[in-house]
Amino acid sequence: MAKEIKTIGVLTSGGDAPGMNAAVRAVVRTAISKGLKVKGIMRGYSGILNNEIIDMDARSVSNIISRGGTILFTARCEEFKQPEYQDKAVEICKSHGIDGLVVIGGDGSFRGAKDLAAKGINTIGVPGTIDLDIACTDYTIGFDTAVNTAVEAIDRIRDTSMSHEKVSIIEVMGRHAGYIALWSGIANGAEDILLPEKHNYDPDKLVKHIVENRRQGKKLHIIVNAEGIGHSEEMAKRIEEETGISTRVSILGHIQRGGSPTATDRVHASVMGAFAVDLLCEGKSNRVVAYKDGKYVDFDIEEALAMQKDLPEYVYQVSRYLTI
Ligand code: ADP
Ligand code: F6P
Repeated sequence: MAKEIKTIGVLTSGGDAPGMNAAVRAVVRTAISKGLKVKGIMRGYSGILNNEIIDMDARSVSNIISRGGTILFTARCEEFKQPEYQDKAVEICKSHGIDGLVVIGGDGSFRGAKDLAAKGINTIGVPGTIDLDIACTDYTIGFDTAVNTAVEAIDRIRDTSMSHEKVSIIEVMGRHAGYIALWSGIANGAEDILLPEKHNYDPDKLVKHIVENRRQGKKLHIIVNAEGIGHSEEMAKRIEEETGISTRVSILGHIQRGGSPTATDRVHASVMGAFAVDLLCEGKSNRVVAYKDGKYVDFDIEEALAMQKDLPEYVYQVSRYLTI
């Protein structure tokens, strides 16, 4: 018989993502609705080690569903990768009566969650990252907002790029993954979308494409470049030298991580947060919440971390057809 959970801890870890607050709110209110106590852990895993743990009630999460960032703050905590710090974290969780933990973050955070689960704290991961780079799930909290922010920014760049008949390179986030680049590139009708998964940055081809497009009457050329490819400034220099067309770089950066979450992010975050509490109440641990083929499901964390995610090939092909 699984031990009944009485107190749930919740933390956000890794890069923040719009919608994390909605997930925290869902964890807190679902747990309280089920008669459990909730403890908020500040600053991710470092908050456990530093004993930054607060009591939360339904009012602690009032008016946060529409807010970007995370009210619990977030952090990257290198020392937490070491077993002795994880042992200390388990002790501190136990001293607060925390017998179930919800970790909202990306795959790095899930590795920490797996270690805590192995050491006896029932732990569930909720995918929160703008990068959409978690293989077991079709959706991660924050992606939709980040893409919409990038799309709005690129629309603005398109206006000025068009007026001056320039080439514009827009570098978007995503770490090693190209999802933000692919989605925002399609949504903005970018002429080129450069993706780490496709290794498709070929300077000679890019220059040829720009020249060919000009010949065919295109007035501007938008290149959405994924952070995983990078080197946007070098790219611009080479394009200018070889085509004589003025080329500008905009690196969107952290603007993509902030802002009020879209309805899609708020709803997924709310359901995923509640689902995580349900799993803990069923006695489950070492699981990650996922949205797969239109359903909310859960996977073993280790299995989830071992899965490979491929960019949808057909979507990529469509992006190629549409740039003529
Ligand atoms: P994300 O969760 O967004 O992928 P990181 O990769 O930076 O972000 O991971 C967030 C935190 O998770 C790290 O700072 C660390 O505290 C913890 N973490 C990452 N990798 C591991 C690991 N291999 N073992 C234990 N904890 C880890
Ligand atoms: O994982 C989210 C993310 O924004 C990535 O897209 C990016 O590579 C990274 O975090 C940036 O992290 P930091 O803000 O710590 O530089």
